[in-house]
Amino acid sequence: MSSQRMISVRSAPLRPLPRLGRPDGLDNGLALRRDQLDFLSRGLERHGDVFEFRLLGLPMVLVNHPDYIRHILVDNSAGYDKNAVLFKIVRPVLRKGLIANADHELWLRQRRMIAPHLTPRAIRDLAGNMTAETMRMLERWDGSDAPILDITDQIGQLALRIVNRSLFSADVDATALAFERAFGEANTILGSFFRFPFPPLSVPTRSHRRLRRAIAEMDEFVSGFIKARIEPPSSSDNTDLLTLLMNSVDETDGRGMDVEQLHHEVLNICIGAYETTTNTLSWAFYLLARHPDAERRLHDEVDRVIGDRIPDIDDIPRLPYTRMVVDETLRIYSPAYQFMRRARREDELGGYRLRKGSNVLINSYLLHRHPDFWDDPERFDPERFTPENTTARPKHAYIPFGSGHRVCVGKHFALTELVLVLATVASRYRLRLPDGAAPITPEALITLHPKGGVHLRPQRRKARAR
Ligand code: HEM
Repeated sequence: MSSQRMISVRSAPLRPLPRLGRPDGLDNGLALRRDQLDFLSRGLERHGDVFEFRLLGLPMVLVNHPDYIRHILVDNSAGYDKNAVLFKIVRPVLRKGLIANADHELWLRQRRMIAPHLTPRAIRDLAGNMTAETMRMLERWDGSDAPILDITDQIGQLALRIVNRSLFSADVDATALAFERAFGEANTILGSFFRFPFPPLSVPTRSHRRLRRAIAEMDEFVSGFIKARIEPPSSSDNTDLLTLLMNSVDETDGRGMDVEQLHHEVLNICIGAYETTTNTLSWAFYLLARHPDAERRLHDEVDRVIGDRIPDIDDIPRLPYTRMVVDETLRIYSPAYQFMRRARREDELGGYRLRKGSNVLINSYLLHRHPDFWDDPERFDPERFTPENTTARPKHAYIPFGSGHRVCVGKHFALTELVLVLATVASRYRLRLPDGAAPITPEALITLHPKGGVHLRPQRRKARAR
């Protein structure tokens, strides 16, 4: 790791950041709209690990080095907030929930009430839902004459079932499918809006009207569950997340959250939990289908550790290779591949002046391919995540869940779900690429999505039903 990049006590005048594109940013807007990842990679090739550019007059800075990222997210996190353009774009959907909340006091209060229900210990109660729902999905695959399945759609429904059970103790029904459709619509519209944020969302274009409808559909889904729980007050002995959130009180004043805030948090958890895990598992099955050696090692591990059983949470430490497959998938196709901070005041990064008000973009798709930390970065290689290899790398070279005080609150939920679903499916099925299948490319929306979805042919690994 280069010590020159360490953030130092200022001794020489700060240099202006290298700039990409024209000062008005019009050329950048068009290039970003065409291919965002290509535009940003070209900037890195030309300028190194940090550069600025304008997007419709907005000052943007891309940072792509672990030292800079640690500085922004951890060491000097008080100098940054979430009033950045990306979060302003998604705020009409996520509102005051944890993900995009820029009001530090409110965020902290909410985080104190929510985080205790998503610790590794708290997740133990939810892990059974994850494997039970996976088994239900596999039962639906059974008996089928090896058709090609839309795995992204299958896993999307599974992820929604898991989140529905965990939050609401509910089975997926038509409203959940409407939620899935509405989320897909919002992701597409906001993804293209991020690449070129014009005209403003308040202008009633056709796609902005569609966005408003999609938000209303997601709201309807969430408020249905909340209303059913509070009108009349429920006397049920549910221990689902909704009940835990409704009963949460803040330690500082003994007060809980109001219904509007609860609604926003539940929606944030649904959105945070659904699409990210769906994309990760879709990519994992795709990568395994393309890499038979890794697939064989995974099968050996699950056969040895869980055999015919349904895995449970205590199996996870005994499934290190399964976890390495998950980690490597999250490296190559990090689903929450970009997030932002706004600089609250001027700052220094490696001798450069970072101006107050800059929108600082962190893109883990690009960071996870940084040639100084990843050899042959496009190669799928779970071995990168052995304990020795992980320790040899700076921690902030790999940030699929972010870092610092805004790190993903659902990280343990996600990793538990990813390992358990992968192990349950892999112990029973091999997922094959259809003959002549073309490579799948990532689509950079608000999340990183497999373009067109992953289509694979499930093949039972053992004849005996388990
Ligand atoms: C593979 C799965 C997931 C990935 C890759 C992921 C990624 C992330 C990232 C990168 C952030 C931080 C963004 C930033 O710093 O600006 C974040 C925040 C968040 N995630 Fe996740 N996430 C995943 C699953 C989940 C799950 C399962 C839940 C809910 C159970 C969840 C709920 C949230 C929430 C509420 C926040 C905001 C936290 C805060 O600011 O306090 N995520 N996630």
